[in-house]
Amino acid sequence: MIALSLAEIAEVVGGQTHDIPDPSVQVTGPVVRDSREVEPGSLFVAFAGERVDGHDFAHAVVEAGAVAVLGTRPVGVPAVVVDDVQAALGALARHVVRRLGATLVGLTGSAGKTSTKDLIAQVLRRKAPTVFTPGSLNNEIGLPLTALSATDETRFLVLEMGARGIGHIRYLTELTPPKIGLVLNVGSAHIGEFGGREQIAQAKGELVEALPEDGAAILNADDPYVRAMASRTKAKVILFGESDEADVSAENVRLTDSGQPSFRLHTPSGASDVTMRLYGEHHVSNALAAAAVAHELGMSADEIARALSEAGSLSRWRMEVTERPDGVTIVNDAYNANPESMRAALRALVAIGKGRRTWAVLGKMAELGDEALAEHDAVGRLAVRLNVSKLVAVGGREAAWLQLGAYNEGSWGEESVHVSDAQAAVDLLRSELRPGDVVLVKASRSVGLEKVADALLETGAEGEVAAR
Ligand SMILES: Nc1ncnc2c1ncn2[C@@H]1O[C@H](COP(=O)(O)OP(=O)(O)OP(=O)(O)O)[C@@H](O)[C@H]1O
Ligand SMILES: [Mg+2]
Repeated sequence: MIALSLAEIAEVVGGQTHDIPDPSVQVTGPVVRDSREVEPGSLFVAFAGERVDGHDFAHAVVEAGAVAVLGTRPVGVPAVVVDDVQAALGALARHVVRRLGATLVGLTGSAGKTSTKDLIAQVLRRKAPTVFTPGSLNNEIGLPLTALSATDETRFLVLEMGARGIGHIRYLTELTPPKIGLVLNVGSAHIGEFGGREQIAQAKGELVEALPEDGAAILNADDPYVRAMASRTKAKVILFGESDEADVSAENVRLTDSGQPSFRLHTPSGASDVTMRLYGEHHVSNALAAAAVAHELGMSADEIARALSEAGSLSRWRMEVTERPDGVTIVNDAYNANPESMRAALRALVAIGKGRRTWAVLGKMAELGDEALAEHDAVGRLAVRLNVSKLVAVGGREAAWLQLGAYNEGSWGEESVHVSDAQAAVDLLRSELRPGDVVLVKASRSVGLEKVADALLETGAEGEVAAR
């Protein structure tokens, strides 16, 4: 964080200082909420959760070098005391980003935020020091903590913004007002909580409403809900996608034999070839979005294409492809699932598995509301249409719908099976997998299917030991 004295912090957050002998002492280290992340110079933010109360760690964090605690009560060590810790954290972030010389990039969408944020960061950091959301910390606490990790050197601050309802993105843009706002897509993630796609579009569009006149709204030309957001912003609009209207687009898109997208990138300042290290055609759209941001920030098509071609996966369990010693390939996309990402992942599985036996180990897509039955049925059917060799549907009712969709689309015998839980899936796969098979593992976060991927990778390692 940029250096701030405790007196200034107390003033910014409207707090009382307690047990602070010298209010001119500065916070220079990171602002953290996890006591294990404290470093000398840190400010420790104490949240009182259901199970753990951050205030209980006050003495320990000061011993570990924290300058003070930001909390709701005096704790016997230097503290800034406020009524509402979340509001105080937000106020501090707003104060700090105003003082930073960095350009803020905010992005949202139903699917692909983290993947795209990681791409944007890997492109922009070639040009200048870039701070970006770690993992998927995109909410009212993760976002200000990320913003507070910027320093005087930071030129670009890239922030993932998540929403579970109307007003959430607006709140985040008030803390950290973006100059560039990117909306990826309006899908069906959290549709149950939102009430429908119109509401999701309303919520995501709050990002472009917050942009200044000299800013840029970067919109997916191929998604009608996102395209329509052009009328909700004062900022300049830059479109990306396959549509003829798009300012940033891809030509000759194909998947290499290993399932990695390759295309010619077109930007208003030129064209250049990209072959990605990431897997799955859905990353083309993410790459174009990242390219549009980088173009707006003055990078050339060649620079952008090179960075996109070298970008790796920074966040775990997103199309993580691992080759087992026995030649079985595990594609771990267990981080999350929604109908769009299920379809993209199945297509990637089929590309990676061309000429090989392919397995789709799938579980439920959460939060689909009234669309749940139809969407699970459709994914089951798509697996059959794409000619995936084996579908293993894992879990309760939704898994049954997946399997029934496949059955009704014409799978027969053991081409599609329904098992009750992750352990049953592991047992089945351990006995059935053969060298050369490719296995995709994917479901919503709550299903925890990464356990299946982990177990299968351990099996591979044991296999290697046994073979020696
Ligand atoms: N453009 C895209 N379209 C559809 N699916 C995508 C796209 N990009 C990534 N995905 C898939 O969506 C899932 C989530 O990806 P990612 O973590 O990047 O999204 P997110 O929007 O950050 O999710 P969250 O809301 O959990 O933060 C992954 O399974 C990934 O394979
Ligand atoms: Mg995310």
